[in-house]
Amino acid sequence: MTTTENPTAHDSGNAATDKFKSERVSADTSTERAAAIYRDVLDAFKEIVHKHEVTYDEYRVLKQWMIDVGEYGEWPLWLDVFVEHEIEDVNYSRNSLAGTKGSIEGPYYVAGSPKLASKCTMPMREQDAACTPLVFSGQVTDLEGNGLTGATVELWHADEEGYYSQFAPGIPEWNLRGTIECDDEGHYEITTLQPAPYQIPNDGPTGWFIKSYGGHPWRPAHLHLMVKAPGRLPITTQLYFKGGEWVETDVATAVKPELILDPQQGEDGKNHVSYNFALDPEA
Ligand code: BEZ
Ligand code: FE
Repeated sequence: MTTTENPTAHDSGNAATDKFKSERVSADTSTERAAAIYRDVLDAFKEIVHKHEVTYDEYRVLKQWMIDVGEYGEWPLWLDVFVEHEIEDVNYSRNSLAGTKGSIEGPYYVAGSPKLASKCTMPMREQDAACTPLVFSGQVTDLEGNGLTGATVELWHADEEGYYSQFAPGIPEWNLRGTIECDDEGHYEITTLQPAPYQIPNDGPTGWFIKSYGGHPWRPAHLHLMVKAPGRLPITTQLYFKGGEWVETDVATAVKPELILDPQQGEDGKNHVSYNFALDPEA
């Protein structure tokens, strides 16, 4: 470990919950729609309980586990691992959008990261700079491939040990987070570090849940991105690395074939890769 302290599921879970709570969300759901969803949820529960003849002991373990997830602040973590990919799919990927595919946001996005020029290096520590550099370049375009003026690419990712700034102690606030302001034709060239696969925090109730069904807690190495341009639908997505460990069995089921990069080592010893983002028009 090179971070000053060892983060625990409790620390990062509570940080994710505090961030989420501070945002106070709401949804415009009618009573009729709420009633239909509530009935279907209870019908699904009923079917599961009958199908598996769930015992009283199992019911009590469920109650205890749900209390633990809340006390560890792990609802954002658990929901983003096991549910968000379906929400993303139904809202962005299964409808008629033609632009770059989206993927889950996950619990570690923080708005307001430092603005960076179109050709930039991500904020990083000396220990990050010692990792394999990744030069990630490309263009934000419309669906016809025309560059978009005023585009921004927000990038955030974990360090080589799998920790995100603001969710683990001892890491500078905006480490490996930035909002890149593309040039007038939507181009960007970002130098960062090649991220590594990481385990989602698993010393708490989410980890217990994964062990209970014999699963693993790994996510493949990835970059998180939020790409925006005036008059265009913003996308939230992730990019992965060809042949990377856990790409086929991501615990969060968030990998899509269209989102896999294949960086090549350049003569400068850095990994280089290019990827363009095509944004749909605003509805
Ligand atoms: C992540 O990409 O960092 C992530 C996604 C879902 C749950 C936990 C972490
Ligand atoms: Fe992530």
